[in-house]
Amino acid sequence: MTTDLSALRRDYSRRPLNESDCDADPLRQFQKWLDEALSVDGMIEPNAMSLATATREGVPSVRMVLLKGFDERGFRFFTNYESRKAAELEANPRAALCIWWGALERQVRIEGTIERTTTEESDEYFHSRPWYSQIGAAASRQSHPIARREELEQRTLALVARHANQKVPRPDTWGGYRVWPSRIEFWQGRESRLHDRIVYEREAESWRITRLQP
Ligand SMILES: Cc1cc2nc3c(=O)[nH]c(=O)nc-3n(C[C@H](O)[C@H](O)[C@H](O)COP(=O)(O)O)c2cc1C
Repeated sequence: MTTDLSALRRDYSRRPLNESDCDADPLRQFQKWLDEALSVDGMIEPNAMSLATATREGVPSVRMVLLKGFDERGFRFFTNYESRKAAELEANPRAALCIWWGALERQVRIEGTIERTTTEESDEYFHSRPWYSQIGAAASRQSHPIARREELEQRTLALVARHANQKVPRPDTWGGYRVWPSRIEFWQGRESRLHDRIVYEREAESWRITRLQP
C-alpha cells in the first residue's frame, strides 16, 4: 500500500512570462528572477539548485548545491574536489543546473561546460564561511565511506585543536567550479499546464531566444 499521488496537483496562475518581459541577456533575466526569489518571505535556500553530472560513459547523477555567485564567466558553486560529483566533472566537464522557486511557480535550467574557479576565488569564499564550516569542510573526505560517525567527529575535534584561534587553511581538495552556460531556460507555471518556456541559446556574439511548448 503506497500513498496515492495521482490526484495531487496544483494549477499555476501567478503570472505569465512574455517575450517582451525577457531581457536580451539571460544573465540579467536571471538576476531579475533571483532578486524576486530573494525578496519572497520565508523562501528556504533560494540559491539551492540541483547539479546534474555524468560519468564519461554518460551515467548521470544529481544532487543539491548552493549557487554562490554568477557573472559572464558562469554560475559558481563550491565543493570537494575528491567528491563523486568532482570525479564526474573532471572526467566529463559538462553539467546541468536546475532551480525551483516554488513560491513564484518558476524553474530555471542552465546547461554548459565546467571549469574550476581560481585558487584565489576558492580561498576567498572558503575564508568567508563560518570557522566551524571551514573545519567541517577540512574534516570530511566528501563522498568517501567512513566506518563510524565518531571517526568524523574525532577528526573534527583534532582539527579544532590544531587550528584553535587561527585561520583554517583551505584544503587543496576543496574549491569551486563554474558552469559556463550555453543554454538557459526560464519556465513560468501557467494555467492548465500551458506553461511559458523561454530558452536562450548561446550564439557567437549574442543569444538566440526561442519559446518552447510546455
Ligand atoms: C540544500 C542543499 C545544499 C547543498 N549545498 C552543497 C554545496 O554547495 N556543496 C556541496 O558540496 N554539497 C552541498 N550539499 C550536499 C550535496 O547535495 C551532496 O550530498 C554532496 O555534495 C555529495 O555529493 P556527491 O557525492 O554527488 O559528490 C547540499 C545539500 C543540500 C540539501
